[in-house]
Amino acid sequence: MQELIQRIISKLESEGQNPQTHFEGMLHSKPMNYWDYIQTDALINLQTQRTNLPDELIFIIYHQINELLFKMILWEIEQVAFSDNLKADFFSSRLNRISRYFDLLSDSFKIMGDGMEVDQYMKFRNTLAPASGFQSAQYRMIEFSSTELINLIDLRFRNSINRNTPFKHAFEHLYWQAAGKNHKTGEKSTLIKLFEEKYMDTFIRFMKDYNTRNLWTTYKNLPSNEKNNLNLINSMRHYDHTVNVLWVMEHYNAAVNIWKVVKNLLKQLEEVNGRNTCILVIRKGFSFLIYGQQ
Ligand code: HEM
Repeated sequence: MQELIQRIISKLESEGQNPQTHFEGMLHSKPMNYWDYIQTDALINLQTQRTNLPDELIFIIYHQINELLFKMILWEIEQVAFSDNLKADFFSSRLNRISRYFDLLSDSFKIMGDGMEVDQYMKFRNTLAPASGFQSAQYRMIEFSSTELINLIDLRFRNSINRNTPFKHAFEHLYWQAAGKNHKTGEKSTLIKLFEEKYMDTFIRFMKDYNTRNLWTTYKNLPSNEKNNLNLINSMRHYDHTVNVLWVMEHYNAAVNIWKVVKNLLKQLEEVNGRNTCILVIRKGFSFLIYGQQ
């Protein structure tokens, strides 16, 4: 104990602080509580519904859970990307963590697909237009920090883009730009215009930061003895599979599940309303399918 106290005193003195003041302060400090540390009150008050439909709360909270896990994923990626003297074991363990977070998201997607009443979903979803998970900035950052920019460029433009292309130009040709444009006129939708207004500068900075530090380039730049580490190779494969296949398919299934029920509801709705009130969702279902396959 004496040794510990002496180490604390030395630490504070080395920072130019007075240990006496700190020890006196400790006499009056409150004990730490779970709710203060985790900020439970703030967290459980971050849900503002736009309707009185009960299932809207599920929708909001599940998206918030996604964003929290996206933050954890970006945190792990940052540790790999900015690590000095990166070793295969560390790289692999951080990739395994990321895969676990994504697995958690994939396994829980049924909360969306099967866990909400479709007629409630249809009502509150319409009050949210033009918002979409498409506008998740953290999801886009995970993409930018995971792979080289060229892999995120729409296949049709890959030949015209190389390392000398300005970032802004590359940004305009990202694969998801196609989903934010009117396929006939090429005009950007409100969804994407608002998204860019809010995040474009952040994205360009982020793209530059990770241009040579993204996970794929980082892996390729490892010395060969680290690069050939079997655990690391398996972790890279697992990450690729869990992010690019599992999560995408679970997301797709959730959307299609809702879409299927909506299709059955469509006839009834047409009879009741005399018009197709679900066309927007169905068109979205198709656009998702089309660009998901590119
Ligand atoms: C009921 C559940 C969901 C449905 C029906 C659904 C539907 C869709 C659709 C139709 C799109 C295509 C883009 C658009 O037209 O808006 C999309 C994109 C997207 N959604 Fe969801 N979504 C659901 C849940 C989620 C959740 C929980 C997240 C997590 C934040 C999410 C994140 C995304 C992302 C990142 C994209 C863009 C994907 C890309 O560009 O490849 N979605 N979603």
